[in-house]
Amino acid sequence: MTIKNILAKMVTRKNPDDALAGAKEGGLEKTLGVWDLIILGVGAIIGSGIFAVVGTAAAAEGTGAGPALMVSMVIAAIACIFSALCYSEFSTMIPVAGGAYTYTFATLGECMAWLIGWVLMLEYAIGFIAVACAWTNHFMQFIKGFSNILPAWFVNPPHWLISDYRSAAHYYQAHGMDPSSVIPHIAGIPVSINLPAIIMIILMTAILVKGTKDSAKMAGIMVFVKLAVIALFVIAGAFYVRPENWTPFAPNGFEGVFMGAFIIFFAYIGFDALATAAEECKNPQKDLPIGIIGSLIITTVVYVLVALVLTGLQPTSGVAIPEGLLKAPMAFTMSVVGQDWIAGLISIGSLAGLTSVLLVLQMAATRVLFAMSRDHFLPKVFQKIHKKFNTPHILTITVGLVGIIGSLFLDLDVAASLCNFGTFTSFIIVCVAILILRKIDPDRERPFKVPFCPWFPLLGIICCGGLMVYSMVVAKGETAVLSSLLFIVWIIMGALIYAGYGYRKNREAEKVEVVEDEQITTNI
Ligand code: ALA
Repeated sequence: MTIKNILAKMVTRKNPDDALAGAKEGGLEKTLGVWDLIILGVGAIIGSGIFAVVGTAAAAEGTGAGPALMVSMVIAAIACIFSALCYSEFSTMIPVAGGAYTYTFATLGECMAWLIGWVLMLEYAIGFIAVACAWTNHFMQFIKGFSNILPAWFVNPPHWLISDYRSAAHYYQAHGMDPSSVIPHIAGIPVSINLPAIIMIILMTAILVKGTKDSAKMAGIMVFVKLAVIALFVIAGAFYVRPENWTPFAPNGFEGVFMGAFIIFFAYIGFDALATAAEECKNPQKDLPIGIIGSLIITTVVYVLVALVLTGLQPTSGVAIPEGLLKAPMAFTMSVVGQDWIAGLISIGSLAGLTSVLLVLQMAATRVLFAMSRDHFLPKVFQKIHKKFNTPHILTITVGLVGIIGSLFLDLDVAASLCNFGTFTSFIIVCVAILILRKIDPDRERPFKVPFCPWFPLLGIICCGGLMVYSMVVAKGETAVLSSLLFIVWIIMGALIYAGYGYRKNREAEKVEVVEDEQITTNI
């Protein structure tokens, strides 16, 4: 085969009609209505971003935004809304599992589709690990409130039982201890595991194997709880706001505002996960745009209100930033104003919030891999659907295992940054793909159309690309550099796997299809 032939195969596009036919044959059960989608959307979006990462985005001691956090929130939302419109156009036009991966296959061809599927794993599977790590932090914070009734070993477990090795080693070094003498070894290998995160991952896997509808119901309860505690924070906190905390408004200038937008972008991730569940929607053409854009608008309003109150309660510049503001900012600021009972309720709400995000991210990772296995990028066994529960159980368990292994090596900050990089890349590709499909397939029925095309998709590319490049250029510190490097390594690994496995499997599948076609012709 000549290089020209190989390149031609790499850009082979999948006709959207084939994707729709594939979904009809071995498709997933259609159980989700518009409310399920809005709940899943808000369930996926509001989580560790607003309950934890927001403190880092505000902290003007580093390169954070300070009180201008609310502006960073709006910038991050604007970067998302253009992509959300593009996702809506695609998901109503090609309502099958796989989201951005499927859209890329229809527009940019096989090789880019594989790469985007691979990058989506950063967003969903690595994001899943980030949220599991945040869950541990909040859980440990929560049980500390019961230290007089719970046993001390439970409230204050050794650090090597609640974090990855790198974080545990940092912690012990910072406390003047030698990590290798404190962290236990098995067969010469140091063992530091994030046990609460692992238990949560196992629980989420079991719930998702049992069924999508049940998972949506459970997400609904958790969404209600988290929105209720956020409302409580905003209303109760408003009485304690001190307007002098809002000056200086942007202590780090534009740099702080944009860095804040990059960091807080993580808090908006999740609306796109709805597109991956398109195949399970009862009425995707009408309901998906409402679900995607509706959940993003609700979230933006909630986030701006939280930013306003949070930065009004606590000085974010000119003082040393307390650890509590970085780890659990809402609960911390409520304790500072003496409202411990509200702080306690916020801790419960944040646990519920994080749980619902875990659920949707794992579901999204599974649905993308499901679509990829249909296209021969993964072994056929992953396409198996559970006879009783109608869910892709083998894939769900596999994603759970990846989450457990990842939690041994990654901490919240590195995983969240990697997740941001993956998401920016997939949003950019979806905006590019909209422009391409409008050109190569202008007559296809589009139940929802991005307004002001090509300007809105172009603005999506500029906003997401700008934030991503900006964060890489100004990246300082071990976490930022490590995550930028890991992102590049991840892309190279993806390209190598495609060359060594995906490309070959697709050619083998083509040969089988040709033989089958010949047999059919002979029989006729
Ligand atoms: N947006 C999700 C969160 O904040 C990923 O946890």
